[in-house]
Amino acid sequence: MAKEKIIVAPSLLSADFLHLEDELNKMHELGVNWLHFDVMDGHFVDNISFGIPLLKAVEKKHYFFNDVHLMISNPRKFILPFKEAGAHLITFHVEALSSVEEGKELIAYMRSLGLKVGISLRPKTAVEDLLPYLPLVDLVLVMSVEPGFGGQEFLSEAYSKIALLRYYREKDHLSFKIEVDGGVNHATGYYARANGADILVAGSYLFGHDDLKERLESLDY
Ligand code: DX5
Ligand code: ZN
Repeated sequence: MAKEKIIVAPSLLSADFLHLEDELNKMHELGVNWLHFDVMDGHFVDNISFGIPLLKAVEKKHYFFNDVHLMISNPRKFILPFKEAGAHLITFHVEALSSVEEGKELIAYMRSLGLKVGISLRPKTAVEDLLPYLPLVDLVLVMSVEPGFGGQEFLSEAYSKIALLRYYREKDHLSFKIEVDGGVNHATGYYARANGADILVAGSYLFGHDDLKERLESLDY
């Protein structure tokens, strides 16, 4: 069976913000159409990144599918503002929920706004914590680093989480996509894909180098 083409989602966290338009044009010219926005609140994770103004500015290019990764507490409060700023898919963290009911209500609310819905889990969180949500989401984001910073090493336990998610997807005839985020390069991306990943987020592997074309090709091996 032919391998499905992998989707590569550059993580803006590693972009050169003084030359962001050039960076986005380069990505667009090389066929990238999925962009990953790492939103951090300094509370859910020990870092603050960026938010609505950046998404609004990037949205003006209309080049990309805007994949917003909310590494924040109380994600519900910011769903509508990010939707209005141009988010197409919003991913929240299961660890930011206080109950399964809250998670299901949040997903229903996101659906009512016409959003694609993603849920993410930190390295220490078990896949089983996501079971109630798998039939309800479009995407599961497996963190292969502790969220908060780009440029970290890929944590290899993510491979088994990816494989387990693929197992549940097949067993229960579900259709969520599996996205992997953190420490992705040609090698870790290859094994993540072999275990079932559909979408690879990459920040430091793509931004800040002069061989972007080769790096993108190396992720779609
Ligand atoms: C980490 C972010 C990741 C990170 C990826 O909290 O969610 O998207 O920016 O960066 P690299 O690819 O450099 O690990
Ligand atoms: Zn991310």
